[in-house]
Amino acid sequence: MRTIHISASKDYDVLIGEGLLDKSGELTRKVVKPCKCMIVSDDTVDELYGDRAQISFSYSGFDVVRFSFPAGEASKNLETLTDLLNAMGEAKLSRSDLVVALGGGVTGDMAGFAAAIYTRGIRFVQIPTTLLAAVDSSVGGKTAVDMPFGKNMVGAFHQPSLVITDTDVLRDLPALQLSNGAAEAIKCGVLNDPALFALLEGGEWLDQIDEVVARCVAYKRDVVAGDEFDTGNRAFLNLGHTFGHAIEICSGLKLLHGQAVGIGMLMAAAAAGCPEALIRQIASCLRANGLPTHCDYGAAALAEAALNDKKRAGGAITLVLPESVGACFLKKVPVSELSGCFERALASQAALGL
Ligand code: GLY
Repeated sequence: MRTIHISASKDYDVLIGEGLLDKSGELTRKVVKPCKCMIVSDDTVDELYGDRAQISFSYSGFDVVRFSFPAGEASKNLETLTDLLNAMGEAKLSRSDLVVALGGGVTGDMAGFAAAIYTRGIRFVQIPTTLLAAVDSSVGGKTAVDMPFGKNMVGAFHQPSLVITDTDVLRDLPALQLSNGAAEAIKCGVLNDPALFALLEGGEWLDQIDEVVARCVAYKRDVVAGDEFDTGNRAFLNLGHTFGHAIEICSGLKLLHGQAVGIGMLMAAAAAGCPEALIRQIASCLRANGLPTHCDYGAAALAEAALNDKKRAGGAITLVLPESVGACFLKKVPVSELSGCFERALASQAALGL
């Protein structure tokens, strides 16, 4: 088992290894004394892993209640959050109790937000069951729900007490879910880690999934330690996300987050005027991991969707732009220039046949 220590307003460990789900209660008991705990998952994950998590927590002395909700991004809203908070109230969870987020990014974000606001904040543990959650959303304390006016628009920073990543669970994921997570790992490679990028370029890394997760988490550890509350360099983690969120919105959420972020990274590279070889290298890495490279939407629709991005500060939006694999820079772009950026990116993609 690998342990990566996160230093933030609250310190905690990220544990990565095989067979950890069945030890999740025991591992949690080392940092949280047995108490009442609510295991939160979507109905798919609840059916697959809910019983195993419950057995482990019960065996370790926790008094377990469970809450599940319909799987999918459409559930990440105030209605489901209210149902969850009501269930926590009905189960009489107190401030010294625990929430366990067992699932992907939707579950982690929403259960984490419930933990952040229930009785003004209780502890929570993340058990990511998707690669995307393991390499990104389970670490760093961002919690939120989506609103009609934008994704993740209502939320809080609330660090977990522990993150437990069972790599056996990740290895069992369907190919689509693996490639969805691979996009965020490729993002870490492009941002900071050429060796990780090289590992992912081959597309055959499943037997090294612990290495992939650990490298991403180690990078995120460094970013979060320097800028927990996202007022500076944490913005680097948004590589591909301004373009990607816009693509996701234009697709009516039919494209998965990672698929959209992958295309978004290519568009960022094109908008930055990167050399053709670099754009082709990123595109080929995306393809090797089953990810799309073509954007089906026009510049005007994308720009309008991007203007809802919460990272817009005043009249400007901060873009993360690649220079080479392992090096990116931030650039503030006036909102009025955004449509032009999208046009340039789409023209460059068309010229490269992407
Ligand atoms: N997922 C981006 C961040 O944690 O800041």
